[in-house]
Amino acid sequence: MRTYLREGNNRREISEARLGTEGVFYRKMSIDPEVYTPIVKGWGMAIHKHLVVSREMDDLEAHLAKVSAEHTHPTDEVRFILGGSSIFHIRSRDDVWMDIHVESGDLIVIPKDRYHCDSLTDEAMMKLILLRWNGLEHPERATHYRPGSRPRPRLPQGFPE
Ligand SMILES: [Fe+2]
Repeated sequence: MRTYLREGNNRREISEARLGTEGVFYRKMSIDPEVYTPIVKGWGMAIHKHLVVSREMDDLEAHLAKVSAEHTHPTDEVRFILGGSSIFHIRSRDDVWMDIHVESGDLIVIPKDRYHCDSLTDEAMMKLILLRWNGLEHPERATHYRPGSRPRPRLPQGFPE
């Protein structure tokens, strides 16, 4: 995992600790289910969904249209990457883009009500699981798009402005 903070047309790498001060939890984990399952259970979480985002998806374009536009959710979004790579764009508390380059073994919690969106990398493949808290009711999670935010239509790169 590497994180870059936008500064005008430049990007400056920031530390995991700095990412933490922005309210984004990060942890490197084993991708062996026998290792991560008890850890996740110990946190009071459960696996909600396995996903593979790639050119093999029938609805890749529709998926990218959804995730590449800036949006929030009323609950935390917890993602654990099992393969491939992606760039998660998350707004800082001051509304500046942070570009988080993730790969296998990276677990990221995007805080509720924080604007974010995703880009695929050139390999155009990300395998991940979505985690949710146990004991909470989980109606289909609401997504609120930022007014004026538009999806970036094409594979794979394209940083939001
Ligand atoms: Fe999201």
